[in-house]
Amino acid sequence: MQNNHNNELEFQLTGKLAFIRTFGCRANVSDSEKISGMLAELGYGFTRNMEEADLILFNTCAVRENAETRVFGNVGALIHLKRKNPDLIIAVCGCMVQQEHITKKLYDTYPFVSLIFGTHVLHKLPELLKETLSGKRVINIDNYEHIITEDLPIKREVEKPEGEEGKIKADVSIMYGCDNYCSYCIVPYVRGRERSRKPTAILNEIQMLIMDGYKEITLLGQNVNSYAGDSESGDKITFAELLKQIESISGEFRVSYMTSHPKDLTKDVIDVIANSEKISYHLHLPVQAGSNRVLEVMNRGYTIEQYLQIVEYARSKILDVSLTTDIIVGFPGETREEFLETLNLLERVKFDSAFTFIYSKREGTKAAEMDDTVSSEEKSAWFTEMLDVLDKVSGDAYERFVGKTLRVLCEGVGRTGEYEFSGRSREGVIVEFNASSNSEAHLDTINHATIIGEFVDVKINKALKWAVIGELSIVD
Ligand code: 5AD
Ligand code: SF4
Repeated sequence: MQNNHNNELEFQLTGKLAFIRTFGCRANVSDSEKISGMLAELGYGFTRNMEEADLILFNTCAVRENAETRVFGNVGALIHLKRKNPDLIIAVCGCMVQQEHITKKLYDTYPFVSLIFGTHVLHKLPELLKETLSGKRVINIDNYEHIITEDLPIKREVEKPEGEEGKIKADVSIMYGCDNYCSYCIVPYVRGRERSRKPTAILNEIQMLIMDGYKEITLLGQNVNSYAGDSESGDKITFAELLKQIESISGEFRVSYMTSHPKDLTKDVIDVIANSEKISYHLHLPVQAGSNRVLEVMNRGYTIEQYLQIVEYARSKILDVSLTTDIIVGFPGETREEFLETLNLLERVKFDSAFTFIYSKREGTKAAEMDDTVSSEEKSAWFTEMLDVLDKVSGDAYERFVGKTLRVLCEGVGRTGEYEFSGRSREGVIVEFNASSNSEAHLDTINHATIIGEFVDVKINKALKWAVIGELSIVD
């Protein structure tokens, strides 16, 4: 991919090793892939061992306070490495440092941190690093919140967890930022205004990935349903139209997307998914709370009745759709009765799974100005109560797959060692399966190399809480 940032700077760091640790969501992982791409162009190699690194970089998250506390702890612990190797560059970037008060605290507390840069200046990394290497302490959290960087090199493999196979799944950002200002959320302040990439740029990137052998593309955005990219003719392209265009790229691959916002998920998107062959049947649809009053103070833009309507429509159109959600407990002013409404919603919808969070006050947001009325003991008790309800109502959700044959993208060997392979179905469900108990005829053709990274059919014979179990039925 073309890049001229480095040519202009004329410096190379051959033989140097970088260690990158990413906190938080997929948008951050995606940024780290761009950071890795730029570092690779400068000549850096990569290590998973901090001890041997010449550059240690933490890409941070600000969504909840505990993520920030962890970063402070982790950065503090680096003093020992800095003492051993005074040339070590320690850098911190990402959402957390986009907040001025945090950057000030970080800068004052840890004099050995020599580079701090925010979410809007990723593309300036080579020049910032050059300045740092000349012995300066560099901070840049400038606010270019409308910027869309199209020509940054991306190095995807570095961010993969150890042991995960390469070139199977890739993330593609379709938009950046968020304009929703949910009252509890820091994201709009640290990631800037919502802006969509051009459909041609997205389609080209996906086309290249498919040609390169990737089999699952995840479209990333804080609210993919409000995608509005400029087409060549100047018209705005909606998310539904973008999905259709991606669907028409030839080859067997799967397209996932996250995150969908209930207020913007329209029936036409669900119809496109239902009529497609390549688009995932997994909808992550964060509801956040079960009470209309709380949803309104959260500024979510929908009622529970509207949410249930879209759930019902999705379930009526998309066979075995997998619905997952996010919930916050203990929002300022939430009463016990309102919390019980959330439990009631979980019982009604029976999500496949839910990510549950205790409300965390984020300075600068609307909710931070509200009275935090729920005590931390109450929050913890409600949280545990919610997990019990989830376990009860969603624990057997995967039973619906037993007896069916699912198309599975095999991602690697079994996660627990009990089964040979692991992959995901079109619904995003983890599928653990064996191939070797198949008929003799198949045994000749089956080996790891031919299955991992391929789509295969798996007959499901058992459901666990976190996965379904099956046997390979056909080798393509
Ligand atoms: N406190 C707790 N959870 C939060 N989330 C976002 N902001 C906060 C906060 N201040 C949760 C929401 C969101 C998910 C990514 O993180 O549920 O959907
Ligand atoms: Fe935060 Fe709401 Fe935007 Fe999601 S939609 S990133 S919760 S402001």
